[in-house]
Amino acid sequence: MTERSLHVVSGDLRPPSDGERRHLLSVADLDRDDIDRLLATAHSFALSQERDTKKLPTLRGRLVANVFFESSTRTSTSFELAAKRLSADTLSMKASGSSVDKGESLRDTALTLSAYEPDVIVIRHPQIGAPQLVAQATHAHVVNAGDGKHQHPTQALLDLYTISESLGRLDGVHVAIVGDVLHSRVARSLVQALRLVGAHVTLVGPPPLLPEGLGVERSFDIRDIANADIVYVLRMQRERMEEGANYVPSLREYTARWGVTLDRLSPNQRVMHPGPMNRGVEIDPRVADSPQALVVDQVKAGLVVRMAVLYDLLTTGPVLVETTAEVA
Ligand code: NCD
Repeated sequence: MTERSLHVVSGDLRPPSDGERRHLLSVADLDRDDIDRLLATAHSFALSQERDTKKLPTLRGRLVANVFFESSTRTSTSFELAAKRLSADTLSMKASGSSVDKGESLRDTALTLSAYEPDVIVIRHPQIGAPQLVAQATHAHVVNAGDGKHQHPTQALLDLYTISESLGRLDGVHVAIVGDVLHSRVARSLVQALRLVGAHVTLVGPPPLLPEGLGVERSFDIRDIANADIVYVLRMQRERMEEGANYVPSLREYTARWGVTLDRLSPNQRVMHPGPMNRGVEIDPRVADSPQALVVDQVKAGLVVRMAVLYDLLTTGPVLVETTAEVA
């Protein structure tokens, strides 16, 4: 499918003039400078969140619409709180993916929301390309909060932030991503982002769940997590699997061969998971609750990184121009 999408003109930090719209639809919209700037902004927001009064007046009078067509806990709550901490008004809409006609009704929903003139629309949708469609149908800045198995750029940014806060660097960090990469928008976005910042990535899991072509190493042996600084665990995303397809013999077998347990880790390794976790399947509960786990740090990072993204889209940040791009 060919979709219009928007790309960064790097190095151009002009504020947007009328008629210029900026979006965060994919990690491909970002370059290294954008990532460094967003992480630095997130860091300064983190300092502001240590104060008694956590609310900043920065986006007073702006409207952020959160539109979620798929279930979400962390992403939807953090976008809402991020907007509120910046004093923006928020409007939240949830719809169940299965009951919605994804073509027409999405455009209709976007047009309906446009009537309120939102400055930003944050959208999660099971269909790849849905955020692009909203970007074309409205005048708002659009943030992709997850489209099918395609992209989840703010998750990649919060993961980079978490790694950088924990290890003090991104360049040269070795990250092993373990599990169902095939159905994971988190993994796709994160691999792109990690490559952009000079990290080393190994995908680990059963062969049918490790797609080729992401430009990183693959390993089918869990022992290969041994050299990683960060072990990034993914859940089996059964809701995105083709019916009848057999990716692993059984969940029990998956856990036995690729489950992340304390035995398989060394004490200096850090463990991350985007959530929701299936304890006892892809991650042992003792790992999830250990001091090695950065899962709560990731949730905290989600708030300040999303504050940074909203701030960046509505104030400074690079100007985007429209181009034509293939949506994979
Ligand atoms: C992920 C998602 O929805 O893509 N969760 C999240 O945003 N924190 C990962 C998942 O669903 O497994």
